[in-house]
Amino acid sequence: CGIVAYKGSQDSIEVILKGLKRLEYRGYDSAGIAGFEYGKLVCCKKQGKVSELENKILEDQFSFDHGVGIGHTRWATHGEPNDKNAHPHLSQDGSLAIIHNGIIENYGSLKKELEIHGYEFASQTDTEVLVNFIHFIRESENLSTEEAFRLALKRVIGAYAVVMLSNTEPDYLFAARKGSPMVIGINQGEYFIASDATPIVEYTNEVIYLKESEIAIISSESYTIKNLDNAVQDPRIQTIDMELEAIEKGGYDHFMQKEVFEQPESIANCMRGRLVLEKGELVLGGINEYSQSLIHAKKITLLGCGTSWHAGLVAEYLFEDICRIPVEVEYASEFRYRNPIINEGDVFIAISQSGETADTLAAIELAKSKGAIVFGVVNVVGSSIARETHEGAYLHAGPEIGVASTKAFTAQVTVLSMIAIKMGLLRGTISQSQFQLLISELNQIPKKVATALKNNDQIEALAEIYKDAQNFLYLGRGNNFPVALEGALKLKEISYIHAEGYPAAEMKHGPIALIDEDMPVVFIATQDDSYEKIVSNIQEVKSRKGKVIAIVTEGDILASSMADYSIEIPKSHYVVTPLLSVIPLQLLSYHIALKRGCNVDQPRNLAKSVTVE
Ligand code: G6P
Repeated sequence: CGIVAYKGSQDSIEVILKGLKRLEYRGYDSAGIAGFEYGKLVCCKKQGKVSELENKILEDQFSFDHGVGIGHTRWATHGEPNDKNAHPHLSQDGSLAIIHNGIIENYGSLKKELEIHGYEFASQTDTEVLVNFIHFIRESENLSTEEAFRLALKRVIGAYAVVMLSNTEPDYLFAARKGSPMVIGINQGEYFIASDATPIVEYTNEVIYLKESEIAIISSESYTIKNLDNAVQDPRIQTIDMELEAIEKGGYDHFMQKEVFEQPESIANCMRGRLVLEKGELVLGGINEYSQSLIHAKKITLLGCGTSWHAGLVAEYLFEDICRIPVEVEYASEFRYRNPIINEGDVFIAISQSGETADTLAAIELAKSKGAIVFGVVNVVGSSIARETHEGAYLHAGPEIGVASTKAFTAQVTVLSMIAIKMGLLRGTISQSQFQLLISELNQIPKKVATALKNNDQIEALAEIYKDAQNFLYLGRGNNFPVALEGALKLKEISYIHAEGYPAAEMKHGPIALIDEDMPVVFIATQDDSYEKIVSNIQEVKSRKGKVIAIVTEGDILASSMADYSIEIPKSHYVVTPLLSVIPLQLLSYHIALKRGCNVDQPRNLAKSVTVE
């Protein structure tokens, strides 16, 4: 979910709506806004996108009379997406309004307690329970709003980022976070609160990242940060370096399209200052103090979710191949709940675009609590995972807004490849000349990605042919197997076509039963050690009348002649091929989704940043 709140002299509805649009990538099944009209708390909410809320605000001639307001765009957890369940939620007497990101785990028992005291609930959300619980504490214990806010939050179990308005203090914003991110932007006489900095950067670059279990009380004149025990904290004001341009579409029709096409630059940015070819050096400035643990690791465990997990799977091949270190790649959500074996000094790498994924964050905390060393490979600077890990390397890919991850994936694979290549040299598992070869191969990737993107028109034509397919199979071997998984995930996410990724050799153990003339099968058949094997797999599909789309190395003859359609990518070293083979798959899913009339940037039911477990 996305949270925005504003206090200042600008039109707060306008500031909040603009901010919510910037945060829509975090959830967009309903949206709402609250503020004061003639001193009374008022609230407007609507199922659907922020633009629908905007229309309703216009229709109802909704306005605020104080320069203060809160807004929310939702990704449903408790209760279906509808007008009632949308945020903000008001307390029963209408004196408090709250927006909330996260989950209140003990909301069931709190609700029962409140019902005994006569509270009734209009929605099925945990948030409505929370606001009434604050109200109950304020009234029953005769406390100030601030005290009630703090004490109620002390008693709830779960994760939250909340902002509250109270009609007894119409000049105040009450905010708090635990387990969900929150940033406060400060400008002269104005305050902005948001789930991340994207709605704030056009107004100010001075921000405070609220820490775990901190509360912010913002009034007209000042702000105070406290902890849940009421002790005043000394916040650190940071200057963030984010260009507004980077979070806008810049002439493209969709964020996903922009992000796919900017990969030559995002990968180059990711390597900038790190690959110093002239000196034959690879510098990873963020990995210092703990680098010995990586070099001497007996095993590395990679943690992630979704696309980040796929990047981890690609890295597994590289670490094992280049560094000869056994690697395990874990879904963070599974790992954290299965009583994993973690020993003091074990090495983990957590991979995350947003740096806020709740399961990944919890898995990191678990590993750290057992004495493990955790490195982060994260895109969002200053995010929770970046802060929670011992050391790490940022992706420097720039903000990724499209829900389907594209440039973050290639940047993750690039960073992980750099780590593997550097460790390989330091461990002595690759020679100096192999090291030189690999870094020069990496260095050529941005140019080769640009070449791969030139097949856009051909891929668009292919999308026209296959847009009505009901199922797709994606097959690859070696480090292109995770790319097959990623290709299938991209298609599922944005076009809603069922797609499965499989190791090509496993096809005969099941998926082959699905193959008929209606089943498109995408093969990654680039020229590496397994090329001949994959050519045999293509034959197996063709002899069962399946339709084959093959991603091949430029100049390929054999696989291309067997496939119904082939898409070329530039020739490259096996180690870096996933950075190229994924490009046509991103484009294929993009064009198919567009032709099916789907919303590529905001696919149904998904959210970019999943801050609930
Ligand atoms: C969500 C997003 C995916 C992403 C995953 C992990 O499901 O929709 O695109 O891969 O979360 O997110 P992270 O920010 O940790 O990489």
